[in-house]
Amino acid sequence: MIVSGSASQSLAASLARALDEPLATATYDRFPDGETLAAVPEFDGERAVIVASTVSNDAHVELLQLQDAVREAGAEEVVTVLPYMGYGRQDDAFEAGHPISARAVARAISTGADRVLTVNPHERDVCEFFEPAATAVDAAGRLAEPLPDALEDPVFLSPDAGAIALAETVRDAYGTGKTDYFEKTRRSGTEVEITPSDVEVAGRDVVVTDDIIATGSTMSEAVAVLSERGVERVFVTCVHPLLVHNAYTKLSSAGVEAIYGTDTVERPVSSVSVAPAIAEEL
Ligand code: R5P
Repeated sequence: MIVSGSASQSLAASLARALDEPLATATYDRFPDGETLAAVPEFDGERAVIVASTVSNDAHVELLQLQDAVREAGAEEVVTVLPYMGYGRQDDAFEAGHPISARAVARAISTGADRVLTVNPHERDVCEFFEPAATAVDAAGRLAEPLPDALEDPVFLSPDAGAIALAETVRDAYGTGKTDYFEKTRRSGTEVEITPSDVEVAGRDVVVTDDIIATGSTMSEAVAVLSERGVERVFVTCVHPLLVHNAYTKLSSAGVEAIYGTDTVERPVSSVSVAPAIAEEL
């Protein structure tokens, strides 16, 4: 049985179709004091696959509740799929007194799971925080699917060195094009500075790929640099389109041709499904 967190209903339905397994109708309630209550119907299967992106603190608690609920309902094996792993970017104690938040949430999730899968975590090492270690599913190649067939002499860029492997994966899946990366310096949670490389972009189509678009600051800075250099069209792709605050309008007004993301985070730009990649791993 496939069980969905409230933020992953569309992906869970796609996964149920891909696996030809029943989709449970979980319920999501909230008490007057703000506490959540996620519940599942009765079922007689052995394996429960919970699909829940932990996009908020509530989503984290909801996942823990679903893990407990399916066990109570008789599941013998609980597989937890984290399409997007929240707190994954807090993978170290960056200052004295800070927690390793990714480890803290991974430990909590591990208590209710026999197996954990996550899609393109920000750093692969976070998989080691789970017990047993989580499997990282790579769905980046699918980001090439919605790109136009005839890109003009394309360049596949990442906005920082850390995401170059994603840009290369998208280029490989597309079939042709040059790859390169910019350098990024983060000034604050919403401010970044992009130092361009000397890649020639004038008159060419550019596809910029990152793992996450959160505030859109990284991507809009990259797009601004490209526009100054006479780029033809800019397509922005990412695995996890969090798109918080005014990210969507920021990117649109920066002049992007299109934004493509996956359904690890369900947003209007989630035109690519990671369900086939997860189904294959399961
Ligand atoms: C950080 O290294 C990530 O790969 C992304 O570049 C970052 O999370 C994007 O955040 P924002 O959209 O807020 O600039």
